[in-house]
Order: sequence, then C-alpha cells, then structure tokens
Amino acid sequence: MKATATAHPNIALVKYWGKRDQVFNLPAAPSLSMTLGGLTTRTSVEFLPELATDSLELDGEKDVQGAKLRRVSQFLDLVRAMAGTSLHARVQSSNDFPTGAGLASSASGFAALALSATRAAGLYLDERALSILARRGSGSAGRSIFGGFVEIYDGVYTRDEVDEPLTRRRSETDWSAEEASEMAFARQFAPPEHWDLRCVIAVTSAGEKDVGSTEGMVRTQQTSAFYEPWVQSVPADIERARAAVLAHDFDALAQVAEASCLRMHASAMAAEPGIVYWNATTVSLVHRVRAARADGVPVFFTIDAGPQVKVFCPAHALDACRDLVSGVQGVRQLLIAHPGGGAQVE
Ligand code: DP6
Repeated sequence: MKATATAHPNIALVKYWGKRDQVFNLPAAPSLSMTLGGLTTRTSVEFLPELATDSLELDGEKDVQGAKLRRVSQFLDLVRAMAGTSLHARVQSSNDFPTGAGLASSASGFAALALSATRAAGLYLDERALSILARRGSGSAGRSIFGGFVEIYDGVYTRDEVDEPLTRRRSETDWSAEEASEMAFARQFAPPEHWDLRCVIAVTSAGEKDVGSTEGMVRTQQTSAFYEPWVQSVPADIERARAAVLAHDFDALAQVAEASCLRMHASAMAAEPGIVYWNATTVSLVHRVRAARADGVPVFFTIDAGPQVKVFCPAHALDACRDLVSGVQGVRQLLIAHPGGGAQVE
C-alpha cells in the first residue's frame, strides 16, 4: 500500500484560465504546454489502517494542516472511491524548486500524487485516465502526466486522433460535467526530443503569490468583461501553437505564446478587484525580451499566475538568453529547464 512517483512541472504556451465546472475541475478551454525537465516533485503515498486522518509533509514541513491538507485529502477521496477503500494515507512530497511562487508546483504535485496514490491503492490507470484524475486535483496537473509537448482538452473541444484538427464536438449544454470530464484528458503531441528548447525561469520574488490561480481564475470568470473573449480566443491559439511546435517554427511559437500570456493576464487585470501578478522586474523582463528578439536573439516570454518570467530559447541560444535575463535588475535566481519526461513510478 505504498508507492513513490516523480513528476515535472510544465509551462503553458497557451494558457488555461477559467473553469467550465468547479466540481469536476473542468477547464473552460483547452491548453498546451511543455513539460519542464530539470525541476522535479517527488511524492510518496502510504495507505495505513492505523491512520484516523490523512497526513501531509511538504518540503520537509511535517503535519501540514489547513487548505493544503484539505485539497490533498479531497483528492485522495477520489482515489479511495476508485479503489473502494476507506483507508487514510500518509503523503510526503518535496520539490527541488520554490513552491507556490508561480512555478506550477501544483501541476507536478498533483501529477505525482495521482500516480503515487493510485499505485499505492493498487490501481493501474493508463496515462489518459491518470491525466483526467490529476486534472481534478489541479487543471494544469493533467498535462504533467506526459512529457514533451502536451495539450489538454476541455470536454467540448477535442481531437479524435493526435493528428486531426481540434473540433467542437458538442454544444456545452449537451454534456453533463461528469461526461465532459471524461473527455478532458491530456495527450502528448510531440516527445521531449522533438525540439531542443530551453526555458530560463527568472525568479523575481521568493514569496508565495497573493492570489492563487484557482481564486484568480474564478474572480476573473465572475467579474471580468474580458473573460468571455479570452475563452473564445483559445482554440485558435492551440492550433497555431501546436503547428509551430510541430514545424519547429520558433517565431510563430513566440507570437502565439506571448499573445496567449498577455490575453490571459489582460482578462485577470480587468477583474474586480483587478489581479496584477506582475512586479516591476516582471515588466522589465517583458521589455528586455522583446528588445532582444527585435535584435535577432531568438527568445520569448511567458508568465503564469505570479511574478516569475519564463524565457524560452532554442538550446543554441541559451548563453545569450541567460545573459540578457540575468542582466535585468531585480532577478534573484535563474532556473534552467528543458523538455522533460512524464510522471514516473520509482
Ligand atoms: C496561469 O492548474 O493551478 O498556470 O485547476 O485551479 O488548480 P487549478 O489551477 P492551476 O492553474 C494554472 C494556471 C496557469 C496557466 C496554465 O498553467 O495553463
């Protein structure tokens, strides 16, 4: 009744920002990402008859309580229901990168938890089913089940086969959230070795962010006049980003990834109260990256629900990319990632 699994975070190139359904944690639109090798979450789960409740150890902090434990426990309830057990579990998880600062630790965290908890409960799910389960823990986690370049569907837009176009299968009202949830799985569309990109992560603030992504997207959805146009814009961006990755077209990927990032942040900024994840260093980095690209350096930025900036470049441009990022005042730390593999049992 014990298993350990590892998973990497991922960075969305076409963002997920909004939910069709909160109970099934169903995204409002598909999203597309690269899994980040070089950053790892390692999670062990042990179901034990003597435990009266679930327990959580996170990055060496024993007996974590409150919202974090509740979120893990609710996730374990899904696994318990699938496995037909009522046993509680001891969960130990650690990241080798900063937790909760916009580096997608919930993605690698719930991907590693989905795999370790199901194996500990004696369940062997295929990757599609695992991605659906991980997505229920955190939307971006469904993508971290797979390595390389990955997309996840929203239950309305889907691709029957990996090489077919994204199509709207049904109107939203034809599906219950439960049925749509089964269609909202992730899929790899190119393996890690397909494209030797690097992602330089510029840490501009060490603390946990003020507004978590779940809260931020719900507020955007409820109060932002730009939310609907944002959601409508996503499927076309998915097709553009996927085609750019498949064609190794860096410039095309730069265009669509920056557009998706800025549209997502614009929708959040237009919420009430407006959500501004950026600090001054974040903004300096945006301008620095764009100026360098205009000068011929192949780089583009993307930013998640926090102030860190992720700068992509081809592997051959890593030194130039690192230099330009580290030259910006306020950058505290650089982490370098490359296309990584999927979640694995140890
Ligand atoms: C900005 O997956 O953290 O990183 O489903 O509520 O757990 P929940 O949200 P989460 O949101 C990630 C948002 C994002 C964009 C992305 O990764 O696609």
